[in-house]
Amino acid sequence: MAETKNLSSRIKEYLPSELTGFLEAVGAIAAYQGYHLYLVGGVVRDLLLDRSNLDLDLVVEGDAVALAQQAASVTQGKLTVHRRFGTARLRWGKWSIDFARARSETYDRPGALPRVNPGSLSEDLFRRDFTINAMAINLNPGCYGELIDSYGGRADLEKRLVRVLHEKSFTDDATRIWRALRYEQRLDFQLEADTRRLLARDIPMLDTISSDRVRHELELVLKEAQPEKVLRRAKELKVLSRLHPALKASHTLSARFQRAREVTIPESQLASVYLALLTYPLTDKEMEDFISLLRVPGRSAEVVRDSQRLKTKLKLLATANLAPSRIYTALQGYAPAALLVSAVATDSPAVSRNIGLFYGWLRYVKPSLTGDCLIQMGVAPGPGVREFLERLRAARLDGEIATRQEEREVVTKWLQERG
Ligand code: CTP
Repeated sequence: MAETKNLSSRIKEYLPSELTGFLEAVGAIAAYQGYHLYLVGGVVRDLLLDRSNLDLDLVVEGDAVALAQQAASVTQGKLTVHRRFGTARLRWGKWSIDFARARSETYDRPGALPRVNPGSLSEDLFRRDFTINAMAINLNPGCYGELIDSYGGRADLEKRLVRVLHEKSFTDDATRIWRALRYEQRLDFQLEADTRRLLARDIPMLDTISSDRVRHELELVLKEAQPEKVLRRAKELKVLSRLHPALKASHTLSARFQRAREVTIPESQLASVYLALLTYPLTDKEMEDFISLLRVPGRSAEVVRDSQRLKTKLKLLATANLAPSRIYTALQGYAPAALLVSAVATDSPAVSRNIGLFYGWLRYVKPSLTGDCLIQMGVAPGPGVREFLERLRAARLDGEIATRQEEREVVTKWLQERG
């Protein structure tokens, strides 16, 4: 970790030169307008820890939207403005740069969204969750690179501690309880002793948070590199049972999460797979409670539900030498991610082999003849067409036929048998 207070050379090492050039240019524009511009929050923490971070947060003492508009003209980036909040996001290459006006926040009641007012940088840092996230770097020419660390964030990074800035932090915003566990586990830090005491005291405050915000926190947990670590810690500190009393974070769950990362799961589905693994041991009723409590959206809810339903197929799938057509009939119609959940959750090699076969191959098998072809061959229009198509698929799956010609022959035979 760099020891100096001026971090301009550290910024140079940490960020690519086009981005350093951009920050210097925006700092100069800000100064010209009479504003102060700072890099704040997670990126400052990660810069000091030398962990990569592609999301830059800029705080402006001044008109953040106007500055973002000027900054956008320096790049080829895409600017999205939220006038109501006085914020803007500039997307540029693989970078995302947020501009916000420095603000103070007050909470009318625990769990409410904060009342926001323009404020100084110092107020803006004080409203933040943890000391390690409450540092800023000055970007104005003349003081470029100067670290502003009013709350001991750098010392806490060195001591590897997650520490709140004040007593009421978790009361104001109990989502910070989950955030504390995320940072602790992600960075391999510890909760500072008083912070841990306050966290334990404020666990009931988790009930003041809206379903959508709680779900969002859980989604962020599930995006971590090793969410099981956060969940285990949440279990230990009784945060997980507050989410739902039936949730457990056992060694089995950790092993399943690890296995999920080892099989090839599309990145976009990994969080749903984790969620379904977390809820896998629940009863149907507990699962439905969980879905409605957290307002789990359609796609993820489908994966959670299908994973439960698939439990009824596991006995069959454990059978040795199961015909591919039977595997197909058992597994078709379920969300693909739920298949991965079942494959990861099972201890039976036969089950995971059969699911793997279906997922990687069988589900794509279909006859080459279409319904129209069958009608031309003499199959009566109506439900019989579908039945023939399914029979053709089954025959293909089981290797009884392999070509279009063979399909024609077998259809002719079936028609003759029917008379
Ligand atoms: N913040 C906060 N309280 C919250 C959420 C956010 O004080 N409940 C502040 C923190 O200072 C945080 C900043 O807002 O650094 C940005 O939030 P976010 O993007 O969620 O976090 P990052 O620090 O960027 O961390 P991460 O690496 O997890 O994205």
